[in-house]
Formats: sequence, structure tokens, C-alpha cells
Amino acid sequence: MENQSQDNKSSFAEDTAIQTMNLTREFGQQTAVDRININVRQGQIFGLLGPNGAGKSTTIKMLTTLLDPTSGTAIVAGFDIVDEPAQVRRRIGYVPQMLSADGALTGRENLMLSAKLYRMPGSERAARIDEALKFMGLENSAKKLVKTYSGGMIRRLELAQAMLHHPVVLFLDEPTIGLDPVARRIVWDRLLDLRRDYNMTVLITTHDMEEADQLCDELAILHEGRVATIGKPAELKAAIGPTATLDDVFAQCCGVMITEGGNYRDVRQTRSTVSRLG
Ligand SMILES: Nc1ncnc2c1ncn2[C@@H]1O[C@H](COP(=O)(O)OP(=O)(O)O)[C@@H](O)[C@H]1O
Ligand SMILES: [Mg+2]
Repeated sequence: MENQSQDNKSSFAEDTAIQTMNLTREFGQQTAVDRININVRQGQIFGLLGPNGAGKSTTIKMLTTLLDPTSGTAIVAGFDIVDEPAQVRRRIGYVPQMLSADGALTGRENLMLSAKLYRMPGSERAARIDEALKFMGLENSAKKLVKTYSGGMIRRLELAQAMLHHPVVLFLDEPTIGLDPVARRIVWDRLLDLRRDYNMTVLITTHDMEEADQLCDELAILHEGRVATIGKPAELKAAIGPTATLDDVFAQCCGVMITEGGNYRDVRQTRSTVSRLG
């Protein structure tokens, strides 16, 4: 086990964007993330699913170098998050779970702050900001204060901030929570466009089964800090039964199902498919 991370590093495939190696984070007595091993190829949209407290945000914080693992590590965009965090940071974009845009500034001002944060040369800033505003359909709102934006516009502005420096990997923690179906669809489309136009790899966390099913090429369901299952949405469903939904997969992994709004209901008795098969 001790040598596994060395072996993994030497066998690191060219097109791997994220590879975790027994990635672990403890908080005191609690193991929030417990030896997870996931592999994400470049250009994939990968979903991390799981109930509240499963360890999704802690995983993202480690992969974005904001939090040190207590053991294990990961390679992100070709660099080790523990040994080479500055190299990793240069190649990633991150949209946190909590809103991160400043409401008292305009959209353009928020983007200018990000450009400075990423140490983008002064001569490139205006062009990159225009590109990101256009990409996210915010050209006409650039001069308005962000506090006047809708939830969907704020999320798109945060995506614009995170893509400004053309990262190799984009990390999004619950990017569509609280958005109406139309705004959510627009965010999905922009993420698909980022993949198409920039070959960006996207790792998202979500509660939303429809999002996981329709947007993600591959999923890992986390439960109590561990990977309960991993695979393509269609494969995960097929493994349970011909008519299974992703809710059934989730219920079987976690013993709970998600009700609308992201709450969980115990389903050990209520989900007939799962109780029959599981
Ligand atoms: N900074 C922290 N200090 C102590 N415990 C934490 C901290 N951050 C997260 N945790 C705990 O780790 C577990 C996983 O949390 P988190 O990664 O936020 O889960 P998720 O994003 O899947 O809802 C939870 O039990 C949470 O209470
Ligand atoms: Mg979270």
C-alpha cells in the first residue's frame, strides 16, 4: 500500500486530468474522506454525488489545494496537490459552494479582480474578460451591479471568473443548486461548450439526479467518505435493473433517497425496486 502512490504516478496516463490515490481527510476523530480513488480523463464531465456530509466539498477542497489531505494525494492537471500545489492552482478554476461573486461590484469589476488574482498580464486582461462575458452571455450586464443579477446570471458570472485563465480542470461545488430549470439548463450548456471549445475537464458535485444523469459522463457516489459506486450513469442504472433510475442507484448506495430541494428520505422500505433487488 505504501508504494501505491509511487506506482500510480509512474503509470499516470497522458489523458488523465485527475487521479486520486487513497485521498483521505480526517477532522479529529472523523474521517470525512476515506481513501478515495477516482480517475477522470481529460475532457470528461465527472459528477461527485452523495448525501449531505458525504465528503464532496472536502474532496473538492483538497483537489483545489485549499485543504491538505491527512494521507494520500492526487494528481491534478499533471501535478501533485501535496508536492506541487502552486502548479496545480495555475491550471484549475474553482466555483465554491457558497456564492463567491461580490454583489457590490459590477460583473466586469468582479472579472477584473479574478484576472489580477490569476496574475494575468495587463495587456491580456480586457480581451480575456470580453471573451468570458460573451461566452457566458453576460455582455449586456457587464456594467450592472451583481446584486441586481438573477441567480442564474450570478452562477454564469462565477463560471466566467473560473474560466478566465483557460484552466485545464474546472471544479464546481453544487453549481446549479437553487436555480430554476431554465437557468440550470443554461449552466449545463455552458459547461458542455467549455468542454467542446477548450477541452476542459469538469468535476462537479451535485444533489440533482437529473443533472448527474444528463450532464455527467461518469459519476462517483460518495457515502460516509467512501466511494460507494463509480461508473457511467447508464451502467450504474443497468446494474440494478432494466427500469432502474439514478434515484434507485443512489438509494441502494446510501439507504436514502433525495426529495425535491435536496432533502433525504429513508427509502429502505419505500423503494420497491431496490428492496426487491438489494
Ligand atoms: N472544517 C471542518 N471541520 C470539521 N469537520 C468538517 C469540516 N469540514 C467538513 N467537516 C465534516 O466532514 C464531513 C464531510 O463534509 P463535506 O465535505 O462538507 O460534505 P458534503 O459536501 O458532501 O456535504 C461532514 O461530516 C462535515 O461535518
Ligand atoms: Mg458540500
